Amino acid sequence: MTDSTFTPRVFSGIKPSGGLTLGNYLGAIKRWVDMQDGETETIYCAVDLHAITVWQDPAGLKAGTREIAAGMLASGIDPEKSILFNQSQVPEHTQLAWIFNCVARLGWMNRMTQFKDKAGKNAEKASLGLYAYPSLMAADILLYHATHVPVGEDQKQHVELTRDIANKFNNDFGVDFFPVTEPVIEGPGTRVMNLRDGTKKMSKSGESDMERINMLDDADTIAKKFKKAKTDPDGIPETFDGLNGRPEAKNLVDIYSGLADISAEAVVAEYAGAGWGKFKPALADLAVAKLAPISDEMKRLMDDPAEIDRKLARGAERAREIATPILDKTYDIVGLLR
Ligand code: TYM
Repeated sequence: MTDSTFTPRVFSGIKPSGGLTLGNYLGAIKRWVDMQDGETETIYCAVDLHAITVWQDPAGLKAGTREIAAGMLASGIDPEKSILFNQSQVPEHTQLAWIFNCVARLGWMNRMTQFKDKAGKNAEKASLGLYAYPSLMAADILLYHATHVPVGEDQKQHVELTRDIANKFNNDFGVDFFPVTEPVIEGPGTRVMNLRDGTKKMSKSGESDMERINMLDDADTIAKKFKKAKTDPDGIPETFDGLNGRPEAKNLVDIYSGLADISAEAVVAEYAGAGWGKFKPALADLAVAKLAPISDEMKRLMDDPAEIDRKLARGAERAREIATPILDKTYDIVGLLR
């Protein structure tokens, strides 16, 4: 089966478990904004039920959910063009997730690298929710019959699992009900790396704040973080291939490329032969120029939490209009008496 029988629809989400990073922006939100201007319906979600798979302070979770929403709005997600909501206001996500828990196989879950990374040596102490997380993610996507999921590289395996779940459900019940969703992982920002170690992903939960750029960092902090970012003695090479085997250098070029909306090859051509003393301040200036208006707008929006809550509640109503008939039909297919 291909997804060609399904009307194209985009779904994606971000966990409110810590502040937004430049990785979330370049790998996800910025690309979501670009997608909302086409013909395709776009649905974006603050996935608060995913956040609680690890401990969240209750007040912090509410604040974090509003911050994610503010970040999306400030970056240009338009609640008139896209459906924007938080996951827990649409209970159909968890209802469908239970059905998928009964479709997904333990062997599939055991292969999930993100669970292994997050649970680490203490897997016995990890929550059952953290283990079942990819099944809830599949429900997020398939509850809307989403055909395309724009994510960063790190989420590819979860979207592939979503495809496995859709295929197994369709085969088990002899239906062509769930689409086989495509991950959309394109462009230079799909794997933004840690500023102190170019082999690790930039993440909101990394040990040191110097590893990442937060969307709410001020101009001085951004400049300081890029200045201290790890590099090697060679500056920008003469050709793009000269970045091979130089993860930190490649990461800074990729970040520049993502922020400037030009190819990494074009960045190398522009700065060929430049040292870090020239490139890093240019990168910091570019980052501040792009991020400062977003962080200013985020702060303005976060001063009025009631307005954010209203927008999320309205988005949830619209999301439920799509989700309810799909869940109803799923219950019918499975044979649940209603
Ligand atoms: P989360 O909250 O970790 O990240 C949200 C989005 O940001 C991307 N991202 C990055 N992209 C590039 N470089 C980075 N360093 C970087 N860090 C994060 C992620 O790839 C993601 O696209 N499981 C998901 C949330 C989720 C979801 C979904 C996504 C739940 N349900 C349904 C899509 C569809 C997560 O934890 O993302």
